[in-house]
Amino acid sequence: MPARILDGTSIANEIRSEVAAEVKKMAAAGVRPGLAVVLVGHNPASEIYVRGKVKACEDVGVYSEEHTPPETATTAELLALVDNLNRRDEIDGILVQLPLPLQVDSKQVLMAVDPMKDVDGFHPVNVGFLSTQRPGLVPCTPAGVIEILKRSQIPVAGQEAVVVGRSDIVGKPAAMLLMNANATVTVCHSKTHDLPGVCRRANILVAAIGRAGMVTRDFVKPGATVIDVGMNKVTDPAEFQRLFAGNSKREQTFRMKGSTLVGDVHPEVAEVAGALTPVPGGVGPLTIAMLMYNTVKAAKMRRGNRVPELSRV
Ligand code: GUN
Repeated sequence: MPARILDGTSIANEIRSEVAAEVKKMAAAGVRPGLAVVLVGHNPASEIYVRGKVKACEDVGVYSEEHTPPETATTAELLALVDNLNRRDEIDGILVQLPLPLQVDSKQVLMAVDPMKDVDGFHPVNVGFLSTQRPGLVPCTPAGVIEILKRSQIPVAGQEAVVVGRSDIVGKPAAMLLMNANATVTVCHSKTHDLPGVCRRANILVAAIGRAGMVTRDFVKPGATVIDVGMNKVTDPAEFQRLFAGNSKREQTFRMKGSTLVGDVHPEVAEVAGALTPVPGGVGPLTIAMLMYNTVKAAKMRRGNRVPELSRV
C-alpha cells in the first residue's frame, strides 16, 4: 500500500487561520504584532522565501517591514540595523534571512537579535531554553515537523526517531523537540557508519541533509513515517532520471523549466513508508506558518501575556 501523504499545505493553513484569529483578538486590544525581515543582497532562493514570509504577514494581519541591505553590507552595518530593530517597540519579531554574505559574521549578527524578538529561535538563549524545556521561541521548521506529526495523529512518545542531519537550524532542534516529546532519538550525519541500517530502526525518520533523494527505500522500515525537510533543485538530467524516471508530470516540468524541486527523500520511499511528507507541499509551508505563530508568541511574551500553546505531543 503506498504511503499516506501528509498534506503540509492544509496543516499550515489550519495554523495560519488559528494565528489570524489570535491577531484579530489582539487587534481588539489595540495590539498589532510586527515582524521585521532582513534580506541582505540578492540570493534568489532567499528572495522567494522572504516574499512568502511578507505575504503570510499580510494574510494573517501581522505588520511587516523588509530591510534590504546590499550584498556588500558589513557586520557592523547589520549589527547597527539589528540594534535599531531591537529598540523599536512596534517590532516584535526580527528575522535575518540566511545565508548572509561571506564577509559577514553570521553568528555575531544572530547573537545580536534580542532573544525576546528572535522569531527564528536561533539565539543561544532560545537554544538553551529549548534544550532545558523552558518556554521560548523554537526554530520554525523543526516546530513545523512536530505540528505535522501531532496534527496527523502520529504517536511520538516512546517511538524510535532518527534525524539525519545535525544543522543548528533543523537537525539539532528537531532532535531536541522529539526528545522533549519523549521519543528515543538518534542523530545521524555524514560520518555515521551504516547510515541505512541506523535509519531503518526509525518509526519516525526526519531527513534534513540537503542532498537530493539521498534517502532511498533501503533506509526505511516498512510502515515508518518519513518527514522530508529537504528542498533541492535538480538540474542534472542524469540525476533527474535517477529520481523521476517514468514520472510523466515531472518530466514535463523538467523539460519546460530545466529544473525540478526534490526533497532529501527518493520518491520510491512512498512504496515502503507508512506516511510521507511531499516536496513541495510538506514541511515547507509549515515553516512560514510557524514563523507567524512565533511572531504572535513574541508579541505576547514581550507584553507579559499568556501564550496560546499549539500542539503538545
Ligand atoms: N534560510 C533557510 N532557512 C531559513 C530559516 O528558517 N530562517 C532564516 N532566517 N533563514 C533561513
